[in-house]
Amino acid sequence: MNKISTIMRPTILTASLGLLIISHVNGQSLKDLVSQIGYNVSIVLPGQPGYANATKPFNLRYDYKPVAVAFPVTSHEVSEVVQLGLKSNHTVVARSGGHSYIANGLGGKNDAIVIDLRNMKSITVDDQRNTAVVQTGNLLGDILTTLNEHDRALPHGTCPYVGIGGHAGYGGYGFTSRMWGLTIDRITSIEVVLANGEITTASETSNKDLFWAMRGAAGSFGIATAITFSTFPAPPETTIFSYSWHLPAAEAASVLTVFQNFTLTGDIPPQLAGELVITKADIRGNVNLGYAGGWYAPIAQLNATLAPFFAQVPAPISTSFDSGDYLHSAINLAGGSLQTISPEGTDTFYAKSLMTPSSQPMSLKSIQALMEVVSTVGFDTPGWWFFQVEQVGGKYSAINALKASETAFVHRDSLFVIQFYSSSPGNTPPYPQTGFNLLNASVDAIVSNNRPGWNYGAYANYLDDELPDWSYRYYGSNYQRLEGVKRIYDPNDFFSLPLGVGRRH
Ligand SMILES: Cc1cc2nc3c(=O)[nH]c(=O)nc-3n(C[C@H](O)[C@H](O)[C@H](O)COP(=O)(O)OP(=O)(O)OC[C@H]3O[C@@H](n4cnc5c(N)ncnc54)[C@H](O)[C@@H]3O)c2cc1C
Ligand SMILES: *[C@@H]1O[C@H](CO)[C@@H](O)[C@H](O)[C@H]1NC(C)=O
Ligand SMILES: *[C@@H]1O[C@H](CO)[C@@H](O)[C@H](O)[C@H]1NC(C)=O
Ligand SMILES: *[C@@H]1O[C@H](CO)[C@@H](O)[C@H](O)[C@H]1NC(C)=O
Ligand SMILES: *[C@@H]1O[C@H](CO)[C@@H](O)[C@H](O)[C@H]1NC(C)=O
Ligand SMILES: *[C@@H]1O[C@H](CO)[C@@H](O)[C@H](O)[C@H]1NC(C)=O
Ligand SMILES: *[C@@H]1O[C@H](CO)[C@@H](O)[C@H](O)[C@H]1NC(C)=O
Repeated sequence: MNKISTIMRPTILTASLGLLIISHVNGQSLKDLVSQIGYNVSIVLPGQPGYANATKPFNLRYDYKPVAVAFPVTSHEVSEVVQLGLKSNHTVVARSGGHSYIANGLGGKNDAIVIDLRNMKSITVDDQRNTAVVQTGNLLGDILTTLNEHDRALPHGTCPYVGIGGHAGYGGYGFTSRMWGLTIDRITSIEVVLANGEITTASETSNKDLFWAMRGAAGSFGIATAITFSTFPAPPETTIFSYSWHLPAAEAASVLTVFQNFTLTGDIPPQLAGELVITKADIRGNVNLGYAGGWYAPIAQLNATLAPFFAQVPAPISTSFDSGDYLHSAINLAGGSLQTISPEGTDTFYAKSLMTPSSQPMSLKSIQALMEVVSTVGFDTPGWWFFQVEQVGGKYSAINALKASETAFVHRDSLFVIQFYSSSPGNTPPYPQTGFNLLNASVDAIVSNNRPGWNYGAYANYLDDELPDWSYRYYGSNYQRLEGVKRIYDPNDFFSLPLGVGRRH
């Protein structure tokens, strides 16, 4: 990254929490502050070369113009930029992999200073303690590759380009998660830059409330610069499997109904997780279904594990099994490569999510209504869409072994997280109203055909800025405590985000 400008070096902060000595200096202009040379943080301002590239979101449905994008290389430099924000009266936002569904890494508005962490990519693996200290500019593909060199692994999603900052800030689900939990569940300590610029540690023994909040709602509380994880041995034998069907809506509904019962009541070992994927069929009134998943144990037991499900559904039209070591499974799930160097793509999309309560499975009527919508409205909707019914719960799920109050991530009794994702035709703007309509109608089919008060949640890593009661759906009974922690660590909502705890109204 070119050094385009430098910013001044402020005095070192020694203030302890609650005694903030740095305050807004009547909004000195950012340009003036940046021009006061003294410290070497790369920073790109509007009009400078690289600004357009540095502000391009993954989801092109958004087009935000932050006032600056900084590229610090140390946590001290992150602190310097936070203090620049305080002095210039601009909110500051962290960006890790830039894969927020609603471009939250750009601040979600046009007055933020973005702290892009891409130059902070160290990973330190401790083979004695079985921990890894991961700086938050790292992407999932690089973390997986590095840990695998030590025969270690962590639970997380499949896309190598997703950043650890957002992923480990709000959850982090993958096919190892019924066995190992969410990414946040493996965090033992976090180096955090606070809203006053102080660099501190959040763990069970230091800033306990902050540690709790950072595991589920990180972006509203501080900037994680390095995260310490407790790792697992990489499983030596794995299988990635997939099955597919092409079915009339009513039969597709019965497959999902069986899948729900199988996930809820089946004797499914934690080494298994997968998703039922719903996509557009060639014929109106039909849907395509796929069941894809991971099995992190010797293949011999896989068929027997899945047999109760397959006994109750039509024979699939295709089947595939790909066995190998853990790295092999991850490369398969990433679509062939874990490398993160080549230019990443963009999309133009809207997404919604539902986390379904285990204690209140979806009614048959609601599943039928969903399939009716996808086989008709979905068939008529231009562009590419997919819905994923991901297995998070069931017997032995490590995600649900924690109490709802243990971390800020509240959904410890969900059976599924369902992701509804619809792209624009050609994956480029403008985004059509038909995409919103399909997702609204699909979620509505489920919600309105369950009993009144059906207590569903939503997943904060699949952010939906149209969700009206978002604070309850994302955080449920934890939201009130989050607001309390916010008042202690960021009372002025300096880390302001749409759908962020304590956001400005
Ligand atoms: C192609 C794709 C595949 C995905 N697959 C999965 C999956 O399999 N499983 C799953 O659970 N999720 C998945 N997701 C969702 C993904 O986990 C979230 O979008 C995640 O928040 C992205 O993190 P990021 O760092 O790349 O994004 P960013 O846009 O950089 O950040 C997202 C949010 O986190 C905040 N943040 C980033 N870094 C920090 C930090 N260091 N400290 C504090 N706050 C920070 C940002 O301010 C922003 O609010 C996927 C997303 C995409 C686009
Ligand atoms: C800081 O910005 C906020 C909103 O952006 C504004 O309301 C406030 O007046 C500003 N304060 C100063 C000191 O400029
Ligand atoms: C800033 O960069 C210059 C030139 O690269 C270097 O000499 C100087 O030591 C750096 N200052 C700091 C504070 O890093
Ligand atoms: C644009 O940004 C990407 C990262 O998003 C970076 O890899 C690339 O080098 C940048 N391109 C230019 C021309 O600056
Ligand atoms: C649900 O699955 C269990 C086995 O896990 C089975 O005994 C039961 O019959 C199934 N219920 C229905 C309605 O299919
Ligand atoms: C599992 O079942 C499939 C058919 O669905 C079969 O092709 C495969 O050989 C079986 N695998 C094992 C290990 O038994
Ligand atoms: C989707 O539905 C919600 C109500 O559930 C509504 O508030 C929102 O405006 C709708 N969005 C669109 C784009 O139609």
